[in-house]
Amino acid sequence: MIKEDLLKLSNDSKKELEGVYDIKQLNELKIKIFGKTGLLTTFSKAMRDVPVDEKPVIGAIINEIRKELEDKISEKEKYFKEKELNDKLEKEKVDITEPSKNNELGAIHPIASVTDKLIDICVSLGFSVVEGPEVETDYYNFEAMNIPKNHPSRDMQDTFFITENTLLRSQTSAVQAREMEKRKPPFKIICPGKTYRNESDSTHSPIFHQLEGLVVDEKISMADLKTMLTIIMKRLYGDETIIRFRPSFFPFTEPSIEVDVSCPNCHGKGCSICKGIGMLELLGAGIVNPKVLEISGIDSKKYSGFAFGFGLDRTAMILNSINNIKYLYKNDIRFLKQMQ
Ligand code: PHE
Repeated sequence: MIKEDLLKLSNDSKKELEGVYDIKQLNELKIKIFGKTGLLTTFSKAMRDVPVDEKPVIGAIINEIRKELEDKISEKEKYFKEKELNDKLEKEKVDITEPSKNNELGAIHPIASVTDKLIDICVSLGFSVVEGPEVETDYYNFEAMNIPKNHPSRDMQDTFFITENTLLRSQTSAVQAREMEKRKPPFKIICPGKTYRNESDSTHSPIFHQLEGLVVDEKISMADLKTMLTIIMKRLYGDETIIRFRPSFFPFTEPSIEVDVSCPNCHGKGCSICKGIGMLELLGAGIVNPKVLEISGIDSKKYSGFAFGFGLDRTAMILNSINNIKYLYKNDIRFLKQMQ
């Protein structure tokens, strides 16, 4: 009797197992068969009443059924686990090659962009790029540039002093003396960087940027300076640009000039960018004052040089039609987006 019951249990369980469609049902079936009060457990308990001579046979059948059902269940378990993992992978699949919908790109800041442009132009003309400190000594910023203490020309620049002899450099010209002390002519250098002056209005910011150029060699003349600046300006603003040189004064250059270009916005007709003048004042320059060469240990009888100093903020404003310098420093996202 018990034999038939066992076979029925085995067949019924196998049938039921085939109909199981998820891990929850499988676990329920496992308990139904192997649990404390499960079907097979009940049979094992009933072994007590089986006559001794039948015990080995029935015992063997129970073990065989147990093994068979256990194998089938673990096979199903494995199948469900794999299926669960595959379903999960399928659901969570990410296409890493799909372009993102929300890709906000940054933009190069207008000052960085014009600095890069000017550096590229100057490097292509044979200049090397150098840098100097922003916290500078009075000596390099002024004295070595032929501006002694108490000289009235110091009033041209309202300087931030840190101590009596240290300051935030008011001009990249400070790098000229540093380089002339270090180098032997001939050399051609440019120095881009931050400069500081105590002034603030729509075209002046206490922190601003300059690019200094310095060439020292034998027989450098005003013609070389004018030619170099004409090439640089035309490459920056376009071939049709008109360039005007006006006499000026700087203690470190003699003679000194200021350079204007025709407004790239209205081409000289007059507009809001050039305030109706048609021309824009862009930089100071000149033939290096022989005194400056001598202060830095260069023989002014053998060598001469020219220097120029670009205002980079102004250049960035002109090239991007920006009418207030404050926009360059406000970090207003709406402004920066327009620069993209
Ligand atoms: N350093 C001058 C300024 O800041 C510009 C300049 C540089 C002029 C080099 C002549 C030569 O105004």
